[in-house]
Amino acid sequence: MPRRLLTLLILINLNFGAAVTAQSTDFRWESVAPGVWKAVVGQSDRITPLAVAGITPRIDRLKSLGEPAFPDVLAGSSHQSVDGKTYLRFPLQKEEQLFGLGLNFKTVQQRGQIKTLHVDHYNGKDNGRTHAPVPFYVSSLGYGVLINSARYITVYAGTAVRIDSPNLPPEKDRNTQRDWSAQPYSDAVDILVPASGTEVYIFAGRSPMEVVQRYNLYNGGGVLPPKWGLGFTHRTPTLFSDKQILAEVADFEAKGYPLSFVGLEPGWQSRSYPNSFVWDSTRFPKPQQFLDALRQKEIRANLWINPYVSSHSPIFKDILPYTGSHMVWVGRVPDFTLPKAQALYKQLFTQQHLSMGISGYKVDEVDGYDHWLWPDVATFPSGIPAEQMRQIYGLQFQKMTDSWFRERNQRTYGLVRGSNAGASALPYVIYNDYYDHHDFITALCTSSFIGVLWTPEARSSKTSEEWLRRMQSVCFSPMAMLNAWADGTKPWTFADVAQDVKEVMQLRMQLLPYLYTTFAQYHFDGKPPIRAMHLVDGFSAVSQTTEGRLNSTDNPYAMAATKDLNDQFMVGDYVLVAPMFAGQSKRTVWLPAGKWYDFYTGQLVGEAQLIEISPGLSHIPLFVKDGGIIPMLPPRLHTPNKQETLPLIVRHYGTKETSWSLYDDDGETYDYERGLFSWTPLTVKRNRQGKLVGSWTQPRTPGFHYTSISWQFMTP
Ligand code: GAL
Repeated sequence: MPRRLLTLLILINLNFGAAVTAQSTDFRWESVAPGVWKAVVGQSDRITPLAVAGITPRIDRLKSLGEPAFPDVLAGSSHQSVDGKTYLRFPLQKEEQLFGLGLNFKTVQQRGQIKTLHVDHYNGKDNGRTHAPVPFYVSSLGYGVLINSARYITVYAGTAVRIDSPNLPPEKDRNTQRDWSAQPYSDAVDILVPASGTEVYIFAGRSPMEVVQRYNLYNGGGVLPPKWGLGFTHRTPTLFSDKQILAEVADFEAKGYPLSFVGLEPGWQSRSYPNSFVWDSTRFPKPQQFLDALRQKEIRANLWINPYVSSHSPIFKDILPYTGSHMVWVGRVPDFTLPKAQALYKQLFTQQHLSMGISGYKVDEVDGYDHWLWPDVATFPSGIPAEQMRQIYGLQFQKMTDSWFRERNQRTYGLVRGSNAGASALPYVIYNDYYDHHDFITALCTSSFIGVLWTPEARSSKTSEEWLRRMQSVCFSPMAMLNAWADGTKPWTFADVAQDVKEVMQLRMQLLPYLYTTFAQYHFDGKPPIRAMHLVDGFSAVSQTTEGRLNSTDNPYAMAATKDLNDQFMVGDYVLVAPMFAGQSKRTVWLPAGKWYDFYTGQLVGEAQLIEISPGLSHIPLFVKDGGIIPMLPPRLHTPNKQETLPLIVRHYGTKETSWSLYDDDGETYDYERGLFSWTPLTVKRNRQGKLVGSWTQPRTPGFHYTSISWQFMTP
């Protein structure tokens, strides 16, 4: 070997060896809440997602989940400081699967992926650039890891092989060995935080669901929306005037389509992109009268905005000292980490919107994308680097607006396009412009691991079939929304499916008591309202048998676990939703352990197995777990207000005796945080003749809105 090459090799080897062993240190975990630990590595940034979200951990509720020990499998985690950056390493077991790592649209399972977590408009690839790139992952072995940093973090989720790995994969010869793999087995998650330090949190749990519960409870418990937020919402065409919107609302009513709130798109403002934040006097000459007219019809109004300030806005001059070095659509970019910037917004928004009765916002363009937003070389008066500003901008806007509504003791529920860790308690649902029905359903699944809500909004469609399928899906999501801002599609636009669309919208309204209780579980217990199958009892992401054939009869879970199950999900404890997509006449559905029944007929459909269904166009396939209790309202056009009391219809499915608690409160204020709410056990037992009978006792606690209960036993 030539001498020069030999010297070079020795040098490389020396450097490599030194880097591997240098200062790799164990974490110092400190218990911060039952089942939650924190470690600070190096010098952590002042701006972190949890700090911006201003979380208040629900210690009382965390205690009631138990006090598990620190997860054994994380012994051997380590960190290093190299070149002013922080490297983190967490071990992985052979059978382990990973979930989370942001709002993903293609796959639910994350092991084997590499992501640079970066707030951005989603653009077709699960590469970390997404609306909520939450640096949190959940393991099938029952723990979660959160990197509380507002940096562009890179996660190698079980891709890298290190020379000192205790589970080195064997070296193979590609020429001769057919099982040579381009991605050899990796036994760790490696994380690069491009900063001199970070906070790391560990969440324990007996199951992935319990980990997610702890994560959400640590963040303050999930949001409990106002009841009207769970009705149906329609966003009107962007340049509609007050009269046109009122006419549209009247149309919904006349044609019998439910509606709870309308969304006003950019044209409500005198200027937008950048924004004046004040009403356009030609389209909305008397905004107060307009909003009062809507409220008389039990309809709330939501305003579209983006945060960038026009020179025509009344706050323009005052906000200038609190804005960044770069513009967005030639509008100023406020630095909301500064109280002065927040105060100017609060004053204008209160006077122009909140005090007139606006119910919430759609906060657009706080995600990206790079060609529109400020570059990473932008500077802000607070001194916070552009990268961190990008990672927290949408989160901060959510927190700021939430606090305004809280001060008025008025719940809000809106839309946002950028979020991050710590958002569980914030009253916002994520949406975007990437209009793919299947991927939108995957996002419903992935949202459930990371404490955010997502809506697969319906906008337009090429065919009536697609329209119906999209409207069916959106009615089983955290916000049932038709976004007609661009083309004015109405629920009844496709005449041949108009009746089916109406029925699924009505079903959404009827399910309000079930949905509201499901959200109360999010708030009080941290259980997300939409649940990926991997979070469901009786469905295991880890294969039960590793030997033998992977078929759906002997080993359904192993098979489902190898497939990425991204097209079905649960709403609450009992309802399994298996959406249909345009062009599909049949599909398969994975039923977890226990018996499952058809929602519409009450008939048994299967148990712990893969079924194939051909449901026809008119219904979205829904299945109910044995013993499922579904409280429903009679059909109605608007969500009930806090004065109304109503009869309740309670459905029971299957053959099991059950008890399930129905939640209720005033549905509009934060009084539930002061204990003004009720949980009512709904119980089904067999009588002496062996017949199922339902019972309940009217609660004495405040906020119960039901006058009577009639039981429907769906399974003959
Ligand atoms: C987009 C947004 C749409 C609509 C539109 C209005 O950015 O995603 O939903 O609001 O702006 O200009």
